[in-house]
Amino acid sequence: MAKIVGGFASSHSPLMSLTGELWAVHAQNDLRNRELVQPPNGRRVTYDELLADADPGIAEVSNVETFTDRVANIQKGLDDLQTRFSNVNPDIVVMFGDDQSEFFFDDNMPSINVFWGDSIKVLPRTITPDMSEARRMSSMAYGTREYDHPVPSDLGLHVIESLMDQDFDVSHSRYLKESYGGTIGPATWYLDHSRTTQPRPFGLPHAYGFAVARWFDGKAPPILPISINTCYPPNWISPRRAFALGRAVRKAIEEWDTDKTVAFACTGGLSHFVVDEELDRLAIKGMEAADPEILTSLPRVRLQSATTETLNWVAVAGAMGDTRMETICYEPGYRTPAGTGCGCAVGIWE
Ligand SMILES: [Fe+2]
Repeated sequence: MAKIVGGFASSHSPLMSLTGELWAVHAQNDLRNRELVQPPNGRRVTYDELLADADPGIAEVSNVETFTDRVANIQKGLDDLQTRFSNVNPDIVVMFGDDQSEFFFDDNMPSINVFWGDSIKVLPRTITPDMSEARRMSSMAYGTREYDHPVPSDLGLHVIESLMDQDFDVSHSRYLKESYGGTIGPATWYLDHSRTTQPRPFGLPHAYGFAVARWFDGKAPPILPISINTCYPPNWISPRRAFALGRAVRKAIEEWDTDKTVAFACTGGLSHFVVDEELDRLAIKGMEAADPEILTSLPRVRLQSATTETLNWVAVAGAMGDTRMETICYEPGYRTPAGTGCGCAVGIWE
């Protein structure tokens, strides 16, 4: 029987890799962002509409000094995560991640997909001379060298068969295509427009790449990528299903006949591109208490756009069973007076 040795999670927003000065530069993109969703009502709004309703207190923490303090705490949290991950040194890492216009588009969008090829290519993001320093740094956070990362294909097959047996109708992938592109939306909820990505070669998606590049401590344990559609209606995963998926994957791992150690991991979230501190603190409370009640009933109206990446954490929490999460850091990363930004967190289950 495989031994489950821990769970590891962090946000992967550019705020997790930029300096305080560059938070301010990156924040300029928010003025044009079409995915701003206002908490707690869940209305999609423009930046100006968000600003008009914003708590004036947010303006007081939207300055480079505060950003720099938050960055220090976040980077310390990520360093701690790296050390703790390195000490646990799992043989295999089972990862939950969302795919944001990377491998999957509206021609065929799986709700749950398991990748079980022998390896998965890590392709650094293209860096061009005209890129801003903020974009360059946040692109590099997903890896800077091209290589094939090992995937435990035998475990992947076992997880797929176990999930099917547990009534999860998962899709699966065994190899990468030459290029990936397509269109997302319009659909329902916040997704009232369409976004097209021109075909391009693509490797390990960002939700996995950030962990491997930032806190795997230079190690390359085989990873099993389980992609869940958190972001895109109509077949986006519910909190209840994400939690149940975590539980079911745990059962599969426990029944896997091996003496290997396995950790669970994810990146993403918490709330963004508008900080919803109340929702973040509720999700953290649920994970700290290992409370399925809280985690399976996080309100959909507040879980839209990229905030849905919180469900990657919910899946890990499901997989970690009764083990409580230790919050290493949480910074409500407000980067504009309107309240745009990201709930930046690091957590460990051990
Ligand atoms: Fe993301």
